[in-house]
Amino acid sequence: MAARVDALYIFLLIVTGMMALLVFVLILFFAARFRHRPGIRAEQIEGSTALEITWSVIPFFVFMAIFAWGAVVYFKERTPPADATEVYVVAKQWMWKLEHAEGQREINELHVPVGRDVKLIMTSQDVIHSFYIPAFRIKQDVLPGRYTVEWFRATKPGVYHLFCAEYCGTQHSGMVGSIVVMEPAEYEAWMNGGSTGPLSASGEKVFAELGCATCHRSDMQGRGPDLKGVFGKPVQLEDGRTVTADENYVRESILDPGSRRVKGFQPIMPTFQGLVSEEQVNALVAYIKSISDAKARDGAKTSAGLAAPRAPVEKDGSRAVQAKAQVNGSQVQRP
Ligand code: CUA
Repeated sequence: MAARVDALYIFLLIVTGMMALLVFVLILFFAARFRHRPGIRAEQIEGSTALEITWSVIPFFVFMAIFAWGAVVYFKERTPPADATEVYVVAKQWMWKLEHAEGQREINELHVPVGRDVKLIMTSQDVIHSFYIPAFRIKQDVLPGRYTVEWFRATKPGVYHLFCAEYCGTQHSGMVGSIVVMEPAEYEAWMNGGSTGPLSASGEKVFAELGCATCHRSDMQGRGPDLKGVFGKPVQLEDGRTVTADENYVRESILDPGSRRVKGFQPIMPTFQGLVSEEQVNALVAYIKSISDAKARDGAKTSAGLAAPRAPVEKDGSRAVQAKAQVNGSQVQRP
């Protein structure tokens, strides 16, 4: 993305630079050419339609070209590839909490492999922040109460600055971090070092703990809609509208279930506002996603397993303990 943004920016600099140069050269030229000389009177000119049309039409097409070019870059930057690896970001005063789909948690640091599309699904626990990686030319506001998304594909190993780019209180300037881009093998080693269960597994745990499954059952006898296969699909609402069950819709349905209720169900679901943390909501979203799309689930695994496949997570107490630790706190688990 950086090369695209830079190309457009350099083009703008050249165009505006050339115009500025033209204006200054003409000022000097006219000042000399039409300077006051004794005995010579100025000739009055009454406008020129041809000249005016020329200097309106040419800039119009130049501006439209810039607009079209900018729009193409913008839509590329705003549209994450479908198979991108997902990382959940929770901003708070004054730190970044990041959680990989595979379960790794980090604070103020994000490790990614070279050459992989990474989609950041971001929300804030308090005020508005902004996730800004200058080297990647991406910046996106992070808002409380909803998800925003940005994505990148790092092309060179290294450590890149991460800034909060939205004034968010006294320590805003300290809300910084780094993006660590690693070679795939190195990344693999890092990934396996602090291995915990995948994020969707902690979501499954939260789903069970909160008793969601008592209503959201797969046998169509439940008081709530069956959530298998729902994610990413259109949903018919009680008020006749249709929405896509994306991250923001799932999130809203957890925190404010009455606002866009699924057709055919009673408004009996309580809100979970204040009962679940941002991390738990993220985990639930990842879980709902995982039971909807086998590809997404496998994708999370295969993207983690560029080289060796990972050992299956045991279905015993140790995972439950891990999952609990994951959803309860904001501790970092890294090698
Ligand atoms: Cu967060 Cu500024």
